[in-house]
Amino acid sequence: MNKVSLFGVIILLLWGCTEGRNNSSETINKWNDQPEMDHYIDSLMAKMSIDEKIGQTVLFASWWDITGPVSENNIVEDAKQGKVGAVFNALTADFIYRMQKEVVENSRLGIPLLFGYDVIHGYQTTFPTPFAMSASWDLQQIEKSCRVAAIEAAADGLNWTFAPMVDIARDPRWGRIAEGAGEDSYLGSLIAAAQVRGFQGDNLADEATVLACAKHFAAYGAAQAGRDYHTVDISERVLRDVYLPPFKAACDAGVSTYMTAFNELDGTPCSAHEHLLNDILKDQWGFDGFVVTDYTSIKEMVNHGSVADDKEAGEASINAGVDMDMQSGIFMNHLKQSIEEGKVKEGTVNEACRRILEMKYRLGLFEDPYRYCRPDEDKQSKIKSPEHFALAHEMAKKSIVLLKNEGGLLPLNKEQLNSIALIGPMTDEQKQQLGAWHTTGKPETVTTILTAFKEKLGKGTKIYTAKGCDWEGDDRSGFAEALAAAKKAEVVVMCMGERENMGGEAASRVHIDIPLIQKELIKEVYKTGKPIVLLLHNGRPLTITWENEHLPAIVECWHLGSMAGPAIADVVFGDYNPSGKLTATFPQHLGQVPIHYNMKNTGRPYNPKDDFTTRYQDCSNDPLYPFGYGLSYSSFEYSSITLDKTILEPAGNINATVLVTNTSGRDGEEVAQLYIRDLVGSVTRPVKELKGFEKLMIPAHKTVEVSFTIDAEDLAFWRKDMTFGAEEGRFQLFIGTNSDVEQSVMFELTESVDVDPYAAR
Ligand code: NOJ
Repeated sequence: MNKVSLFGVIILLLWGCTEGRNNSSETINKWNDQPEMDHYIDSLMAKMSIDEKIGQTVLFASWWDITGPVSENNIVEDAKQGKVGAVFNALTADFIYRMQKEVVENSRLGIPLLFGYDVIHGYQTTFPTPFAMSASWDLQQIEKSCRVAAIEAAADGLNWTFAPMVDIARDPRWGRIAEGAGEDSYLGSLIAAAQVRGFQGDNLADEATVLACAKHFAAYGAAQAGRDYHTVDISERVLRDVYLPPFKAACDAGVSTYMTAFNELDGTPCSAHEHLLNDILKDQWGFDGFVVTDYTSIKEMVNHGSVADDKEAGEASINAGVDMDMQSGIFMNHLKQSIEEGKVKEGTVNEACRRILEMKYRLGLFEDPYRYCRPDEDKQSKIKSPEHFALAHEMAKKSIVLLKNEGGLLPLNKEQLNSIALIGPMTDEQKQQLGAWHTTGKPETVTTILTAFKEKLGKGTKIYTAKGCDWEGDDRSGFAEALAAAKKAEVVVMCMGERENMGGEAASRVHIDIPLIQKELIKEVYKTGKPIVLLLHNGRPLTITWENEHLPAIVECWHLGSMAGPAIADVVFGDYNPSGKLTATFPQHLGQVPIHYNMKNTGRPYNPKDDFTTRYQDCSNDPLYPFGYGLSYSSFEYSSITLDKTILEPAGNINATVLVTNTSGRDGEEVAQLYIRDLVGSVTRPVKELKGFEKLMIPAHKTVEVSFTIDAEDLAFWRKDMTFGAEEGRFQLFIGTNSDVEQSVMFELTESVDVDPYAAR
């Protein structure tokens, strides 16, 4: 556990102290008493026909909302015959209540349906996109955001969210980077656990919690060339070291369901990947919830070319460990025949059915099928409540990352500012601030940048506005108005970047810079000589090398949801001191991709003076902004690192300590980051790996002492013989403000240590 103490006579406010362990208390009640549940489900299953058991494994989309191709089936009629176990994309408590009632009252056994939906970053109170939230490095705040999402979704009849998305993403071309926590497995694991705790709480039978779903299992983010749905071919070691840890963390936090990924992995589509599903997830990790596929992904196995037809696809899928078929209808249409032909054992279907029924039981649905959807004014009043907006505001502020602030242009002094120009397509936008996968998020909940600036500035400051251009295209007709606005103002704020649907599913891009027309507008405004603050809106790292060279101030504002405008105004005018740090590397140029901080050293490490080292002829290897980077209006200085000992015994630990001083006259937050490099391994090791962090509030001119404790388990990896553990030898330990930190000290582990990779952590 990391430790922070007072240094000198100062008051320390510690925000988001992270311990990295699941500390949710276990609440035992009627619905999670295993023997009682087993007894209930045994007797229910004894009454079920094989058709009804198969029915539980079938999930269809309602016509209410569409996130993919919709089937022609009449879901309610099928469910009444016991042929459907769960529905997704059905919305509103009233609609769900009527659907549930119809099925419970008119089916032979009255088994309630599950109702799922993509509640990704808020329900109607929209939070920043998950990638943006990860930049807060604030686990408690992220957990609270998921809690709010669960409370609102559950109040509207839902009991299952298809979140969190815990895919590690190291390629900014891949649009779905917007849905996850970035490139790092350690941070991603902590965030995954926080999200699961937020959605599920301590007790699934609590009406304000929903089943969470860790997706997309697995390695979806490693799609070749960053192209969505594309082939993934990575080693078992990279799979286990890099891509699986957040999924394992979700399992340890008690996640109820997993969703398989669309991609193939090493030649096998993930929806039929026995090694992933039966071996790793269910046997090695002991996952006891159920596995659902992604949308029609069983059917897509025919396109992958791993099976000849639908029936074979269904067999491969259920035999590999899938429990529920999302939307392809293949389990519904073919499983019975497959059992009759001996291609699928009845026991396999029984197990899938049991896992699903167990989750219904844990939700308390057998006691009261309407516990989520019964219209309830008190619960409904929580949706979009002022408290939820306050939390969305807090989360949005914490997600903002200050990328550049030359000459202290920011914060702007609202008392002294006579005029300001707001230019760009995001200036007065509501919908685009909602971000990718906002699903039920409503544009009208969004306070725009313009509205928030007007409120903040009052009448004393003249605000000139001009959209200037659209997100894309070649229409320059708005340029003149934008230039006129810029010329009249003391300072120009440009609200530019990506439309919300340039991120998310099916949103890969080969150009990851600001779209051309907007870039041209920025360059034109730059020629006016006015000081420019660039507010960047995007779901992925962008190549903003020109902007970084020429513009004095850049603020990474992502898509921040309902409270985007107020949060941005707080940062721009200094009512909030920015504290976010990037969770994925920003490249200088697309040609550097994939680029992430934890690369390998190679046999010819980068040396700009030596041609025959690992390098490009036309660009350095450095990122534009490294992982963990983010500025503040305060400035911080790190002391040298002190270790309490330099020899680590197998069962011992080492404390590493630094002093962090706020050298400015303004209170500010800093994320102190601990990285470790294992110098020699049985397999090569990354040049740095994040192993701890602390988010600190440090008062002006004060110093805080930060300590990190390291033991052998922290040094474990999948070794050459594919056992998990730490290897004896020397380690370099860094503590600093981002992953580019150079200051380090050495310590030595005296003996190799085996670590149980499957133990819950
Ligand atoms: C496809 C997406 O990949 C997945 O993330 C989502 O949950 C499902 N569609 C359901 O909408």
